[in-house]
Amino acid sequence: MKKYLVLNGPNLNMLGVREPDIYGKTGYDSLLSMIADWADRGGVAVDCRQSNHEGDLVDWIQAAYGVYDGIVINPAAYTHTSVAILDALKAVGLPAVEVHISDVTKREAFRQISYAGMACRHHIIGHGLDGYLEALSWLLANT
Ligand code: DQA
Repeated sequence: MKKYLVLNGPNLNMLGVREPDIYGKTGYDSLLSMIADWADRGGVAVDCRQSNHEGDLVDWIQAAYGVYDGIVINPAAYTHTSVAILDALKAVGLPAVEVHISDVTKREAFRQISYAGMACRHHIIGHGLDGYLEALSWLLANT
């Protein structure tokens, strides 16, 4: 059975409450349910983790080595700042897909660089929460 890790960065636990005009009204728990349903339907194992702390994300990426077949990652604000997350993804070399709920390409200048994205094989940007399922489907088709 394929095994994937979904990582979410800071403030994504506030989905549904946080800037709903940008990120929608669906909560983080509903995202977890959507992913669990997808995993059940596909006979795939998916673990989801969220942290507001950069080092947690680095630790989880490192611990994924030899355990998971791929990573879906929305590093949230750390997308635009974290060389540590980029280096961790490069260190483990697992197939990774970058997800952003909003279309960052049409937002502020400071969101136009993605460090983590440089280590990702595929990018799903601006597809809302469905983007996580698209990312998992991409991993399933390509790993
Ligand atoms: C985000 C976009 C980031 O720029 C932002 O800091 C987030 C969420 C997204 O999913 O659209 O926290 O990654």
